[in-house]
Amino acid sequence: MKNAELASQAGNGPVPLLEIDNVTLQYKTTEHLVTAAQDVSFKVYPADRYILLGPSGCGKSTLLKAIGGYMKPVQGRILLNGGEVREPNPERMMVFQEFDQLLPWKTVRENVEFALEASGRLQGKAAAERAAYYIDKVGLAKFIDSYPHTLSGGMKQRVSIARGMAMEPAVLLMDEPFAALDALTRRKMQDELLRLWDDTRFTVLFVTHSIEEAIRIGTRILLLTPHPGQVKAELNSIPAAEMGSASQVALETRINDMLFAQH
Ligand SMILES: Nc1ncnc2c1ncn2[C@@H]1O[C@H](COP(=O)(O)OP(=O)(O)OP(=O)(O)O)[C@@H](O)[C@H]1O
Ligand SMILES: [Mg+2]
Repeated sequence: MKNAELASQAGNGPVPLLEIDNVTLQYKTTEHLVTAAQDVSFKVYPADRYILLGPSGCGKSTLLKAIGGYMKPVQGRILLNGGEVREPNPERMMVFQEFDQLLPWKTVRENVEFALEASGRLQGKAAAERAAYYIDKVGLAKFIDSYPHTLSGGMKQRVSIARGMAMEPAVLLMDEPFAALDALTRRKMQDELLRLWDDTRFTVLFVTHSIEEAIRIGTRILLLTPHPGQVKAELNSIPAAEMGSASQVALETRINDMLFAQH
């Protein structure tokens, strides 16, 4: 796919798809200057399932917003394929935690098509075919002509994921997309995401504060310190086959210790 091609063209080893280089992010309110993330650096390579993991308020959503192009760093740079990220772009699609990201007056099919057409990605028949393909991939073929209010929270979230994936972005940005789901649905959605990844090997940057979810979903895990978020460590996850084994327990313990350590 195009990401892999980019990597192989470079000749000398893999080139990062996304590079976060010494980034500091702040919010200016009338009374305060809040530093949400400080001196954060990491690299995401093609087909990575890269996880940002850290406690509430450590700046995960803020980092994702900046990578999405919705917020400008006060220090450092964010590069996608070597070009600086300055504004939102279909190459960096966001899927949020909230269920209500869909247009209520459009059907499932129309929601996905609309994103493709409004962004200029695809038009007409090509958009319709692409939309149907990804709606099927997330298991919603039967509901393609349904309106969002007739779907469950998990189903709506699957539509948002289909919409994000249909754009075939260079990197899919997911901000705790399963956090509001019940445990059973959450687990199903995690498995579904991994199956989709097996199919298409997309690159995903995934925010969570669940250690278990990080290990299950991720290939690489970036641990952030509490507010303001700084990089604590970067770890490899374990292969899917080792979920539930001693190596999962060991990694969970290691991450727990690092997240709760004082230094
Ligand atoms: N719009 C805003 N204006 C001012 N401060 C903000 C704004 N959004 C976030 N912050 C602050 O920035 C810090 C990081 O917030 P952020 O939402 O990135 O955390 P998070 O890691 O995503 O947390 P959670 O796990 O709870 O979603 C927090 O201290 C928060 O209060
Ligand atoms: Mg958040």
